[in-house]
Amino acid sequence: MPKILNITGLEKTYSSGNKQLTVLQNISFSIEKGQTFSIVGPSGSGKTTLLGLCAGLDQPNSGTIELCGEDLNMLSEDERAQLRNKNVGFIFQNFQLLPTLTALENVSVPLELQGGKDATSKSLALLEKVGLADRVHHYPSQLSGGEQQRVALARAFANAPSILFADEPTGNLDEDTGEKVIQLLFELNQEAGTTLVIITHDLDLANRTQQILRLKGGQILTNERTAVL
Ligand SMILES: Nc1ncnc2c1ncn2[C@@H]1O[C@H](COP(=O)(O)OP(=O)(O)OP(=O)(O)O)[C@@H](O)[C@H]1O
Ligand SMILES: [Mg+2]
Repeated sequence: MPKILNITGLEKTYSSGNKQLTVLQNISFSIEKGQTFSIVGPSGSGKTTLLGLCAGLDQPNSGTIELCGEDLNMLSEDERAQLRNKNVGFIFQNFQLLPTLTALENVSVPLELQGGKDATSKSLALLEKVGLADRVHHYPSQLSGGEQQRVALARAFANAPSILFADEPTGNLDEDTGEKVIQLLFELNQEAGTTLVIITHDLDLANRTQQILRLKGGQILTNERTAVL
């Protein structure tokens, strides 16, 4: 299968004061197009850092990242942003909705900025899909945590990404709402062939993806296929 993400020899070091802190070391793995993939590991093991690097939000100290056939090291910051806008969706742990925009605007404004057509009607359809048809004019502060999470999901789907990165997409949700969010993610994978990369502490969820990468102390512990086809 063709690879959508190919990581080789990644290392990330932060400096604080005169101290160097290596948070990722010797990381190599790849993800196939259309695959469902999870990243698990203890708090502080480098999962969010790794996601930021994979998506070109942050740069490694050494190593290469090929995303959608492009070597991120060879791209300017603008070019990386373009590649992201075109191909990548995100769901952040803390939603990151813009507080001064309504639910509808949170989904439609990024689409409009990218010059997308019919941004409003597309966004309405997405919000309906995540069960928020009657909440579209609410501001984030007027929505529950689970509702905000679903707005973030609709926003992530909006540009029909070829790869979607989700950092603890169910971390703040009750079991039922979390399951609904997961169902929507897997549906997107099935219907649109979107590659899913999910960071999770939930091993049951990880076991529903086709491959599990385990991190510990910034290094890969295991990278194994599951029984899921
Ligand atoms: N900007 C930064 N500057 C310095 N150190 C950082 C920075 N960002 C993260 N770290 C450190 O890097 C390590 C990995 O952080 P990261 O957020 O990737 O962990 P994580 O696996 O996502 O943890 P969690 O499960 O708690 O979200 C942590 O020890 C953290 O303190
Ligand atoms: Mg994290």
